[in-house]
Amino acid sequence: MAKIIGGITTSHIPAISNAMERGLEDTPYWRDFFAAYPPVRKWLEEQQPDIAIIFYNDHGLEMFLDKKPTFAIGCAAEYENADEGWGIATIPTVTGETELSWHIVNELIEHDFDPTVCQDIKVDHGLTVPLRLMYPDQNYKHLKVIPVCINCERHPMPKPSRTFALGEAIGKAVESFPGDEKVVVFGTGGLSHQLDGERAGFINADFDEECMDKLVSDPKALTKYSNYDLVRLGGSQGVELNMWLGMRGTMTGHVEEIHRNYVAPISNTGAGLQLLRHTPKR
Ligand code: DHB
Ligand code: FE
Repeated sequence: MAKIIGGITTSHIPAISNAMERGLEDTPYWRDFFAAYPPVRKWLEEQQPDIAIIFYNDHGLEMFLDKKPTFAIGCAAEYENADEGWGIATIPTVTGETELSWHIVNELIEHDFDPTVCQDIKVDHGLTVPLRLMYPDQNYKHLKVIPVCINCERHPMPKPSRTFALGEAIGKAVESFPGDEKVVVFGTGGLSHQLDGERAGFINADFDEECMDKLVSDPKALTKYSNYDLVRLGGSQGVELNMWLGMRGTMTGHVEEIHRNYVAPISNTGAGLQLLRHTPKR
């Protein structure tokens, strides 16, 4: 059976990619942020996952306000990245996955989730920046990526409880897949931030720390929040916590935090990083 070996939560802001492109990782502004990543890269190197399920949001590259799937899943053999206007270098083609992804789609529909199925999508910074952070030499071709896209841009958005349930259904689908693949799951974005309006620049570090604690020990407690609560407590883009909840929902066994970092502000965000080890029940 395919096995979820762990989860990684990370910021996805375009400024990270720009900093890497310019070699600014060890400058005072960025040092504490980038210094936290080598242990996660080392874990990936040791564990050698075959597949990465990446919960991300498309900020307008492929799914703009006029066409906005609530949940979408990629089933393509590869994914291109394109310039989306942040001035970040595009990354080389991302390898896709076509067996487990279709299995997940079939299982989701069987269990009353109805995702948009994407066989031809470009992926934006929500997916590419985390990949580049984990593989700074961009040597990620061996990793088969399944993009899971969650609407975090246009209200109405899926409720945190629903996104967590989607994660649970994906986790069950992985467990029922007849293979021996090792799967790592990413939740990208967050944490608190607001890019526009009167509260632009709003960050709530206490709330972010609470979210990181609860994500490990009591993720269900976070699903009591509505998206309105998340906007109030974490800013209008704080709803990106939904990707972290989707990731956490996939883990139904024992979860142990093996690495954590939090820096604020990084650009406009509270930038969190967590590495969770998952031991499935069976
Ligand atoms: C920033 C944050 C985001 O979530 C994003 O998608 C783009 C930019 C930022 O803070 O710069
Ligand atoms: Fe974002």
